[in-house]
Amino acid sequence: MVFKIKLHLLLVLSPFIFVPFNSNNSCNNYLSYLFISFSSDCYHNPDVNDNITNIIQRHTNSSETHHVQTQDGYILGLFRIRRDNPRGVILFQHPYNFDARIWVTQYNDSVAFLYWRAGYDVWLGNTRGSLYSKKHVTLKPSDSDFWDHSFHELAYYDLHATVEYVKKTTGGSKIIYVGYCMGAISGLIYASIKPEDASKSIQIMITLAPVISYQDAHGPLMTAIAILYKLQPLREYMGIYSVGRYDIWYLRLLRFFYLFFPFKKLLPYTISLFFGWTPDEMDPNYANLMVSHFGSEASLKVVDHGHQMHLDNRFQVYSYGNDHNMKVYGSPKPSLYSLEAIKLPVFIVCSYDDYISHYKDNERLFNSLPQEATIYGKLVVKGMNHFDYAYGKRRNEEVHNKVLQLLNSLCEDKSN
Ligand SMILES: *[C@@H]1O[C@H](CO)[C@@H](O)[C@H](O)[C@H]1NC(C)=O
Ligand SMILES: *[C@@H]1O[C@H](CO)[C@@H](O)[C@H](O)[C@H]1NC(C)=O
Ligand SMILES: *[C@@H]1O[C@H](CO)[C@@H](O)[C@H](O)[C@H]1NC(C)=O
Ligand SMILES: *[C@@H]1O[C@H](CO)[C@@H](O)[C@H](O)[C@H]1NC(C)=O
Repeated sequence: MVFKIKLHLLLVLSPFIFVPFNSNNSCNNYLSYLFISFSSDCYHNPDVNDNITNIIQRHTNSSETHHVQTQDGYILGLFRIRRDNPRGVILFQHPYNFDARIWVTQYNDSVAFLYWRAGYDVWLGNTRGSLYSKKHVTLKPSDSDFWDHSFHELAYYDLHATVEYVKKTTGGSKIIYVGYCMGAISGLIYASIKPEDASKSIQIMITLAPVISYQDAHGPLMTAIAILYKLQPLREYMGIYSVGRYDIWYLRLLRFFYLFFPFKKLLPYTISLFFGWTPDEMDPNYANLMVSHFGSEASLKVVDHGHQMHLDNRFQVYSYGNDHNMKVYGSPKPSLYSLEAIKLPVFIVCSYDDYISHYKDNERLFNSLPQEATIYGKLVVKGMNHFDYAYGKRRNEEVHNKVLQLLNSLCEDKSN
């Protein structure tokens, strides 16, 4: 009896016992993950179990870590892949529930390295609350006030502080801003509420998969967001103000389990269900890389803010309800972010197959911007979902090489 139980336990644990961390963890195709120890399509990728500074260092030898303090006391981590005499300076800002790792977890082919190799000084921002931005002068992440921010504060405080820091540290010339989903939304808000500051510091804003109203956004993620919104009183009663505390034990266990789970094709199917049906687009090489670096804590108020834009079909400030809005804003209706106020060029990149950043929403965004802001047009791609800008097989040919081409036409090569 005891022997039987032990045998079962051994069978259950066997993948964890017999697959040491320094063996193969990545494959060129999903099927090969079933034969990860024998297949010639598989290899060991050291980035899977490493941290961001080591990853950057391994591929570029140019890793720097910086910290920026916002006006309201948050201390944000900021990573730099340094290049002297660069063609230009680029600040990347990550999507919701992610952090700077999203730009460097495609092995040697990472998005950030592509731009760095093209001659740019690359900076990777981290919004408040995410893995590298958990410090505040007085608050702690366990305080509810620490999470009391919507897209608005990410723009007003975090972006302002980060953009100004990068500009100052690199010699005072205008920088290039690349925002992905939440990074794109807060970028647009920043350019709309601080148009003078933004146009003084940012040469061009590249928005990857932006959203302004979520009117056409659909899929189970939007349903989940609607349910979360309804549960707001319960969440607050239970003291839940953020999503993605990925250091909690069961999420760690789940991640650990998935890293050894051989049917990796489940990952692109799951992601496709939520973010756009393109299961063949996700690169199998990055399955474990993505999972081991997925998730960074973020405020639920940001999600609520997005859902309110969806409900009211307006690109507007966070709403506290009519009465409280009167107290906070002096008017019952939440005010609109004026896209007409934007004074810098915005280059929109979106996809027909993205459930969240819908191409129709992007059409409205394009048409709402002043003519001077849209001089470079926009780029609408096919067959890529909301995730594929980072982990899709064709992300470079469809998106990043084209963005680079535009940037190169604006920035002269200073390498020799
Ligand atoms: C890793 O994969 C290679 C084939 O690329 C294979 O020869 C090697 O034995 C594998 N190593 C381990 C430890 O799984
Ligand atoms: C990554 O690990 C190295 C040690 O291997 C450490 O020096 C560095 O501070 C770590 N970076 C981060 C961002 O934690
Ligand atoms: C970084 O420097 C080390 C030691 O000089 C060298 O071995 C390595 O190849 C360099 N890596 C890159 C990506 O340049
Ligand atoms: C990245 O590494 C892989 C495997 O070593 C190699 O085949 C590929 O050419 C490299 N890509 C770049 C851009 O260096």
